[in-house]
Amino acid sequence: MGYFDPEPKKRKEDLFNMERELLDLDNGLRRGKLVVVSGLRRYGKTSLILTYLNESGLDYVYLDCRLLPPGMISLNSFLNLLEEELSRRSWAKKVLSSVDEVSVSGFGVRFRVRNERSLLSVLRALENKVLVLDEAQELRRSGYRFDSLIAHAYDHLNLKIIISGSMIGLLYRFLRVNDPEAPLYGRAFTEVKMRRLSEVESRQFLIKGFEQEGIDVSDEVINEAIKRFDGVIGWLTYFGFALTTSKEDVDSIHEKASKLALSELEHALKIYGVGERRYRETLKIIASLGKARWSEIKRGVEARLGRIPNNTLATIIKNLADSGFIKREGEEYEITDPVLQHGIRKYY
Ligand SMILES: Nc1ncnc2c1ncn2[C@@H]1O[C@H](COP(=O)(O)OP(=O)(O)OP(=O)(O)O)[C@@H](O)[C@H]1O
Ligand SMILES: [Mg+2]
Repeated sequence: MGYFDPEPKKRKEDLFNMERELLDLDNGLRRGKLVVVSGLRRYGKTSLILTYLNESGLDYVYLDCRLLPPGMISLNSFLNLLEEELSRRSWAKKVLSSVDEVSVSGFGVRFRVRNERSLLSVLRALENKVLVLDEAQELRRSGYRFDSLIAHAYDHLNLKIIISGSMIGLLYRFLRVNDPEAPLYGRAFTEVKMRRLSEVESRQFLIKGFEQEGIDVSDEVINEAIKRFDGVIGWLTYFGFALTTSKEDVDSIHEKASKLALSELEHALKIYGVGERRYRETLKIIASLGKARWSEIKRGVEARLGRIPNNTLATIIKNLADSGFIKREGEEYEITDPVLQHGIRKYY
């Protein structure tokens, strides 16, 4: 499968466009030590990073921080993730064989002592490699200061770092690059911002993708998909894959996609515990109005759940925006992902 393979892409021939982003990532890593790849969900961050690393032949360690357990993240669970990833890398055994803090065997790489010192020894051994922390905003949920760790690696170790995240505001709240009190303050880095495809690109992507699959799809269906998935490459891929493999119509693929987006949202809102209801109501009002002013949101939430103090609502709106679920346009708020908006309107 080509464009419509649902896994993150790893080969240039499967990666649509993204020439500029590849170049920016390359320049950023050549000139500096840290690149941040930002973009909302399904904008193609992981595909960009993995394709770049595989095509350039660099050795890398890829950690998907979404795989860390829910709740507070311990250093130990981070070490588990790192062990697993290092065990998959053929070069790692050789590089780590002289590091006392780990054992290297046919079973893979294991920390002998599970503490910060061991972690630093391993990172020190990763000279000239690239460390990828995907969905790094998850690392904020920890008593261990991962931001200090990144700053230490930046300042003292000879490795390059790629940090990525789909909850961009939360990611920057974690990195605090502009906060003089923070470990990463003032460090130079490059940001590669992922984007939506234009209408023309979306059409090219779908037409070429269906060509690769050898199936004929009418202009009408393509137009409908472009309208609903709004340039989000991950949704266009989802659509292409679903149509190719199950021959469903646009409507039912759209419904499934919006249920998926909704379940991801619900998962993300769990961290707010009993406060979740107010987040829900806020989203429902914004989704149903399409664009909503502050006063409209406040009135709507209060009509349902009783009085809500301004600063509480402000926090909710900030958290939703920093998580990438809503965005502000002038004086109004809207749901960023039209597929999610549909899901909230219909099923929430
Ligand atoms: N440039 C591209 N060409 C072809 N397919 C792509 C491209 N970018 C992303 N995709 C596809 O879109 C989907 C989402 O891509 P990917 O997982 O790389 O995005 P992401 O931004 O990391 O998403 P998430 O926020 O969910 O982690 C995948 O199915 C992937 O194969
Ligand atoms: Mg990703």
